[in-house]
Amino acid sequence: MGDKRSRIIKALKDAQESPVSGEELGLKLGISRTMVWKYIKSLQADGYEIESSPKRGYVLKSVPQLLYPEEIQMGLKTTLLGKKIHYFEEVTSTNSIAKEIAASEEEGTLVIAEVQKGGRGRMGREWVSPHGGIWISVILKPGIPLRHASRLTLVAGLAVANVIRNMGLDSRIKWPNDVRINGKKVCGILTEAKAEVDRVDYVVLGIGINVNMDLKDIPESFRAGSTTLKAELGTHIKRVSFLQDFLFELEQQYILFKTQPFSHILNDWLALSDTIGREVKVTTPSRIIEGKAVGVTPDGALVIRKADDTKEEIIAGRCIYARSR
Ligand code: BTN
Repeated sequence: MGDKRSRIIKALKDAQESPVSGEELGLKLGISRTMVWKYIKSLQADGYEIESSPKRGYVLKSVPQLLYPEEIQMGLKTTLLGKKIHYFEEVTSTNSIAKEIAASEEEGTLVIAEVQKGGRGRMGREWVSPHGGIWISVILKPGIPLRHASRLTLVAGLAVANVIRNMGLDSRIKWPNDVRINGKKVCGILTEAKAEVDRVDYVVLGIGINVNMDLKDIPESFRAGSTTLKAELGTHIKRVSFLQDFLFELEQQYILFKTQPFSHILNDWLALSDTIGREVKVTTPSRIIEGKAVGVTPDGALVIRKADDTKEEIIAGRCIYARSR
């Protein structure tokens, strides 16, 4: 799919606004005119402005904002994040690539892909990553103890929630890492780290944000409980400027993380979280814990008060709200 799409785009760009017929494109790619039309439809859905006239053919009037490094770096206000960007049209998982290259990369290097074919979520789950989202991994080298690496998940969640709130949407954070709007997930974060003895060599912050996809682009089994920024705002989002804003916000939060007591981040995170005070059910690989979420520890663990009034701290797990509010 990716390759054929790119070849159609290239052919239309090369034609410089003179029409290219479906037949010509079909011959070039070795596919039928109907298939060409389907690709054109999917390109249009992704924001390519392509005029089509049955007699003359297709004309590319404008291209969408792809996440090309030059586009992102032009006007980027950060000093650390995004100085180097590895861009891919399609990968298995940006986190997997980031982990492969992290040892030899500078802190702040990004891996970005338009599409992930093997996007990974927490707890071994799949992360659906079609065209139109932001799938990005940030390589960080904070030199912190491994047990503090999960704090960076909260840092990233806070940055995503802040940048979405700046767009006028009431986004909230569900422990540990879901950024939601109106109770539906718009972003997930997968933090992976490598450590020697106790210090981390690197942390890879994998962030997936559902931006411009139509909900129908998300397979039905994943759709319930998910949303996209486009669906919530009712308008197409300029991904490049959104990503620039997000990187700036993430850098600000990261600087606070490195220079201030963690309580600063934690308090801001708690103010945006909709988990505290809820009846929750948290599933870990070994068991299920139920009770009321009453706090989050400085290491990002959820504190649950159980029916017998004892408290338990859960460092990782899948959290479900027992009742909706
Ligand atoms: C979750 O909520 O389960 C976490 C989802 C994390 C998805 C992002 S997309 C970019 C990066 N690459 C991956 O394979 N996963 C993360």
